[in-house]
Amino acid sequence: MLSRVADVSLDELIGEIGRCRSAAEDLLAGAADAAAVERARVELLGARSGRLKAIQKSLSAVDPSQRRDAGRHFNELKDWLAAALAAAQERVAARPERVVPIDVTLPGAAAPLGHVHPITQTIRRVEEIMARLGFESVDGPEVEDQWHNFDALAIPPEHPARDPLDNFFLAVARGAEPLLLRSQTSTVQIRVMERRRPPLRIVSLGRVYRPDTADATHYPMFHQVEGLLVEPGATMAHLKTTLRLLAVGFLGPGVRVRFRPSFFPFTEPSVEVDMEWGGRWVEMGGAGMVDPAVLAAVGLDPETVSGFAFGLGVERIAARRHGVADIRDFYRNDVRFLRQF
Ligand code: PHE
Repeated sequence: MLSRVADVSLDELIGEIGRCRSAAEDLLAGAADAAAVERARVELLGARSGRLKAIQKSLSAVDPSQRRDAGRHFNELKDWLAAALAAAQERVAARPERVVPIDVTLPGAAAPLGHVHPITQTIRRVEEIMARLGFESVDGPEVEDQWHNFDALAIPPEHPARDPLDNFFLAVARGAEPLLLRSQTSTVQIRVMERRRPPLRIVSLGRVYRPDTADATHYPMFHQVEGLLVEPGATMAHLKTTLRLLAVGFLGPGVRVRFRPSFFPFTEPSVEVDMEWGGRWVEMGGAGMVDPAVLAAVGLDPETVSGFAFGLGVERIAARRHGVADIRDFYRNDVRFLRQF
C-alpha cells in the first residue's frame, strides 16, 4: 500500500493501480458463490480498508502537477472495479449457491451393524430347542439368599460348597444371613417349585458366580442352563433322552451323551453329563433325579411326584460347538474374535 505522507510519483500510483486490478481479477475469478463475491467486494471496495480506498488516500500525496492524471487513472480503476464486480455478482446469481452432484443410483453407505454375542446366541438356541420339548424359559435373581442357593437344595451347613472362599457373599444380609451372588442356577428349581405345582417343565439360563481364577476353562462369572421336569412317572431315561435331544439339537446328530455316577446333594441318583463330539469327551455338567428332600422342602410329596434336573455350562457347550479353546475369549470384547460367530 502506498504511504499517504510520503510523496507518491505518478508511476508508483499507476503500478499500484495495476496490482490492484490483477488482484481483483484473481479474487473475482476464484469467487464461486455470492458469499465469496461479497468477501471480494469488501476487500476491494470496502469503505474503511478496501484497496480502492487506500489508493484514493494516496492521491493527495501525488505531486499537484500530476494529480489530474492520477485522478483519471484512479477513476478508470474505480469504474473497472464496479463493472467487474457487477459481472461477478451476476455470474454467481445465475446459478445455485452450491451444486452437490448426487448420483441417486449409488448404493447407500452401510451403517456398521453389530450382532448378538455368541453366548447370547447359545442361550437363545438352547431355549429354542428346549421350547420344542415343552420346557418354558424362566428367569431367577442373581442375588440370592442361602435358602435358595443351599438349604432348599439339601446342601448341609458344613458342606464345602458353602465355603466363603468358593462364593461371593455380599455385605448385605437378609435376616442373619448374608446374601450372595448365586453359585448355580439350581436356585431357580426351588423358586419355580415354590410357586407352581407339577406338571413342570422349565429351563433357566443365566449368570452364576464363583471366585475362580480365570483360565482357559474357568471364569469368575459364567452361565448355566438349568432344566427341571416334575411329572408323574419321570425317570432317568427321560432325563437322558432330554439331554440327548438338547445335545443333538445344539451340536448336531454326531454327538454322543454319556452319564457317569456322581453326587449332588439335591439329586438322587446323580450323574455327570459328558458329551462326545468330534472325537473328544467333554464334561458338560451334572444331572439327576430330584432328591426327595428337595421335593419335601418345597412342600411336594416325594411319594407321589418325581422329577429330574440338570445343569450344564453354557460356555462349555458354546466352546465345544465353535471350537473355542479358551472361554476367556468370550469376555475379552475383541470384535475380531466376536465377529466370527
Ligand atoms: N448345580 C450343579 C452345579 O452347578 C449342576 C446340577 C444341576 C446338578 C442340576 C444336578 C442337577 O454343579
